[in-house]
Amino acid sequence: MPGLLEGKRLLITGIITDASLAFHAAKMAQEQGAKVVLTGFGRMSLVERIARRLPEPAPVLELDVQNQEQLDSLAGRVREHVDGLDGVLHSIGFAPQTCLGAPFMDAPSADVSIAVDVSAFSFKALAQATLPLMEGGGSIVGMDFDARVAWPAYNWMGVAKAALESVNRYLARDLGPKGIRVNLVSAGPMKTMAAKSIPGFMELEEGWNDRAPLGWDSADPIPTAKAVCVALSDWLPATTGSMIMVDGGVHALGI
Ligand SMILES: NC(=O)c1ccc[n+]([C@@H]2O[C@H](COP(=O)([O-])OP(=O)(O)OC[C@H]3O[C@@H](n4cnc5c(N)ncnc54)[C@H](O)[C@@H]3O)[C@@H](O)[C@H]2O)c1
Repeated sequence: MPGLLEGKRLLITGIITDASLAFHAAKMAQEQGAKVVLTGFGRMSLVERIARRLPEPAPVLELDVQNQEQLDSLAGRVREHVDGLDGVLHSIGFAPQTCLGAPFMDAPSADVSIAVDVSAFSFKALAQATLPLMEGGGSIVGMDFDARVAWPAYNWMGVAKAALESVNRYLARDLGPKGIRVNLVSAGPMKTMAAKSIPGFMELEEGWNDRAPLGWDSADPIPTAKAVCVALSDWLPATTGSMIMVDGGVHALGI
């Protein structure tokens, strides 16, 4: 049987360890028949080392979403490996320490700007940079943590995710006529490097399994990777501007 992503050409950002949600999405995408090009930020030799653990070799291009030159040259650099793209995964988030766990009222505006720029504005920046490669339409997917409510510790990262949710809707509006779908996968808490850097992550994670109607394993990346692959596939053809909830069902409950 052909894989879900047979013949798809995908750009996957956001691998830094083999716990990264992007690593598991890339692994599953390759297992499902996709040709994957990766981008890495900063620690390129580390990203290249982790990329070697994927089932198939995948080129790694440097991309700091705050670096306009790297964004401008991205399409040309991707074209050295594939003749176009069918899908893009944005799996990028960052907030300075003052924005996470520290008192909400104390974060300076300059730090909040960085969190919003890297975690939300960059969804637009990445879409724009890859647009020339998606002339036949495609699917752009971002990674969310439900920002419709306030959480312990998540603070300004929650505000940045709320911005990401809004960017998702505006990109869906503007790119739909080009045949490009734009969606977020909103995952429950997962034990990754980004998550461990949140003081108070334990508080977020604790009890999730008990609350989730389906249960939740924060060490199991498979449900999230599967949702990303479906969103990148042809199997959600009329879905755009959506948040696909992959949290065991916690979002559906009050207490
Ligand atoms: N881990 C969770 O509990 C969880 C839950 C829901 C959503 N998410 C989201 O999933 C995405 C991936 O996070 P993760 O949990 O896999 O952690 P991770 O630390 O493995 O990945 C975060 C990635 O962001 C990249 N990044 C940071 N600044 C960047 C920049 N300026 N330019 C380009 N890349 C940059 C890092 O290099 C890293 O690869 C993030 O958007 C995160 O908010 C995570």
